[in-house]
Amino acid sequence: MKEKTRFGALGAVLAAAGSAVGLGNIWKFPYMTGENGGGAFLLIYLVCILLFGIPILSAEFYAGRRGYGRWRWLEPAALLSATIFCGFYFVITGWCFHYLILSITGATSALSPAALSEVFGGVTSEVVMPCLCIVLAVSITALITVAGIKSGIERASKILMPLLFIILIALIIYGLTLPGHREGLRFLFAPDFSKITPTLIINALGQCFFTLSLGMAVMANYASFMEPSQNLTRTAVHVAGLDTIVAILAGLAIFPAVFSLGIDPTQGPELVFVTLPSAFNHIAGGYWLQILFFLLMVIAAVTTTISIVQTQTDWLETHTRLSRRWATFIAAFTDLLLALFCSLSLTNSCADYLTIAGMSIYDAADWLVSKILFPAGGLLFSLYVGWICDPADVVNELSLGGHRAIGKTLLVLIRYVIPLVLILIVIFGFLG
Ligand code: PHE
Repeated sequence: MKEKTRFGALGAVLAAAGSAVGLGNIWKFPYMTGENGGGAFLLIYLVCILLFGIPILSAEFYAGRRGYGRWRWLEPAALLSATIFCGFYFVITGWCFHYLILSITGATSALSPAALSEVFGGVTSEVVMPCLCIVLAVSITALITVAGIKSGIERASKILMPLLFIILIALIIYGLTLPGHREGLRFLFAPDFSKITPTLIINALGQCFFTLSLGMAVMANYASFMEPSQNLTRTAVHVAGLDTIVAILAGLAIFPAVFSLGIDPTQGPELVFVTLPSAFNHIAGGYWLQILFFLLMVIAAVTTTISIVQTQTDWLETHTRLSRRWATFIAAFTDLLLALFCSLSLTNSCADYLTIAGMSIYDAADWLVSKILFPAGGLLFSLYVGWICDPADVVNELSLGGHRAIGKTLLVLIRYVIPLVLILIVIFGFLG
């Protein structure tokens, strides 16, 4: 058998962080925080990352390192979720490319918030440009993925992740010079405990799954390319830490601008596509800042889509006789078709027939993924590692530098606490 190419130690962390850091941090986290009352959401989200995120991520890493044993079906099942998710994710990635182009051509400058809202309506419901942008996003993803673990994914992550940090810091420094930025900071960091409700907790947990790429075999796939000497728990902590830092930095880049311009933070998915461009229109240098911001979104999204296409490609390569090139092509082409259907289901001309259970395909995919597939995937990985794998080996692998107490605590969470909570969440997902 040919020797497996593996990530370097830093490359592994950056690639996994590249998967985790995505639209979940820069698009979803700000609008979820905005809708769920600011600091209170951030606080519960941090608790979820600690109690659920890091343990499930470690469990997924463990499954990736040891393989799926008797639960051979788990990987293709999780990959099926990843594929549905990818169709939905490429639509939003396409919007980011579209907005990057609009920013460069100056098409959104000097528009009123109402006109910008119309632009967003156009971007999401047109036929041609969204489809072309999706083709662009899928092609770039496939080109990097086909180059392989070391020269494609690791190299891209080592360039793109630092770039992402630099852009974010530049945007934050700018935001903090705006008058009224303090209110934005207060909104993000001062929790109002009366806002904590069961819905907020479920939303925070859902955000934790989304943002750490959990339950879809993607993190497990990356772990299978880590050196045997790489400590899994430490890597999980580093990845979750970087991901959380980027989410908070995105909040720091966005809320000062939102509050300084008196914009309502509870607008939902439109927040970064409508609100931010209108904020940029009011500030000096806004033209360049807007380009930088959408470049940031594109980078974050692409390092994420690479991780999904890589997982699909690797599965095809291992389970069929396809070459890497063909495997990547088939994976990317399937994702492309799904994304095009999702995107077209939002257009006026197709909205009537591209529906599932009375929802557009896009909304149906969104609902299915966030309410059912993410928690179900997390549940299955926890059950597999907690109940099927050898507990002594799990504790060994998940111990940190000789601290077995950490491995044991993680096993208790993975075996008992997390499955119980996730079973409830999946049931509520079906009912609600
Ligand atoms: N973590 C990614 C983000 O925050 C999304 C993702 C989820 C990617 C699941 C892969 C698998 O954008």
